[in-house]
Amino acid sequence: MLVTWETRHELGLPEIDAEHRVVVDIINRLNAMSGKPSGELKTAAGDLERYVRTHFQREERLMEAANYPELAAHKAEHAAFATRVADFSGKAETEMTAADLSSVLMALVSWWMSHIGRTDPKYIPAIKGLRR
Ligand SMILES: [Fe+2]
Repeated sequence: MLVTWETRHELGLPEIDAEHRVVVDIINRLNAMSGKPSGELKTAAGDLERYVRTHFQREERLMEAANYPELAAHKAEHAAFATRVADFSGKAETEMTAADLSSVLMALVSWWMSHIGRTDPKYIPAIKGLRR
């Protein structure tokens, strides 16, 4: 397991926290797959790609609804990560070595934890304001 989910990773927005946690779960699941047939890896990488895209769309809709001023910069971060995940998903179609897989996943999880720990918290007041 690359990352153990802890309450300190939560933003206090239950739906978003649940989705953030699913992404960590999928990355951990992928990490446990080194040495498995590439078909299984490809399926899980495709799951990650789709889930990340859906989650980003949901977050971006909320930020738009809240007129969040840093939306453009936030969207650019999302797009950069989505590209990295798509690139990984493409590579997972061919057999990856365990070392390659683990270094890609390490980089993805480190981006993810930094994004949810530093960038996402900035929108909390705006999104909480929507729910009043
Ligand atoms: Fe985000």
